[in-house]
Amino acid sequence: MKDPHLTELTAGCIAAVLPAAGSGQRFGSDRNKLFAMLSGKPIWFHAASRLAARPEVGRIVMAISEQDEVDFRGPFAELVNELRIELVRGGDQRSDSVRAGLDAVADDKSIEFIAIHDAARPLVRDADLAAVFAKAAETGAAILAAPITATLKRVLNDGNASLTVDRSELYSALTPQVFRVDVLRRAYDRHRGRPATDDAQLVERIGHPVALVHGSADNIKITHPEDLRIAEAILAR
Ligand code: C5P
Repeated sequence: MKDPHLTELTAGCIAAVLPAAGSGQRFGSDRNKLFAMLSGKPIWFHAASRLAARPEVGRIVMAISEQDEVDFRGPFAELVNELRIELVRGGDQRSDSVRAGLDAVADDKSIEFIAIHDAARPLVRDADLAAVFAKAAETGAAILAAPITATLKRVLNDGNASLTVDRSELYSALTPQVFRVDVLRRAYDRHRGRPATDDAQLVERIGHPVALVHGSADNIKITHPEDLRIAEAILAR
């Protein structure tokens, strides 16, 4: 019987690329924040294992910094091997790290899609992965996004005045961001280091529409130490 989650996607046709080469300065630790433990496992392991659990994901490539290599190849080697993670060297910018992952799977004909997922997002839900993968299969480019719940203000007159912004059309971008290989390749070939806050923006620039898939707001990115406490509470629920 056909697996209902596979939709149009064949098993193993997605390569997950996890940028993990950041310094995490805002986390206030001298080690990579991704090494912080959540329910007994490092943050990056949670993120990778959620992707590894999907049948569509055939390869997991994680971009790491030179400085962290000793940890990933030393104390973390067993966890890396458990999920069959391929390690590549990341770069100064997040987009350099993603490109390194993209290059690692460039010659693999079995890979049709790339799912880029922040290693700092350990809580992505399986149903959201299934939904964003299915949408990417249909459209070539899809990302998880959560509706904005805060009331938004636009600053006017140096902060002496403000205006409420209609939030009904606004979403915050999450990951995974999933693209057909040729689409992402074209976007990265065009990318000449112009600032971009996510991969979807690079794809928008080549004129390819990026579909938004409503994802759970639980899929937080661990940025500050208090995010870890929030993540623990979400996991315990
Ligand atoms: O810093 P921030 O948490 O926004 O980074 C998002 C993800 O991108 C993290 O998993 C981080 O390790 C990764 N990253 C990277 N290479 C960089 C900067 C960030 O792989 N140069």
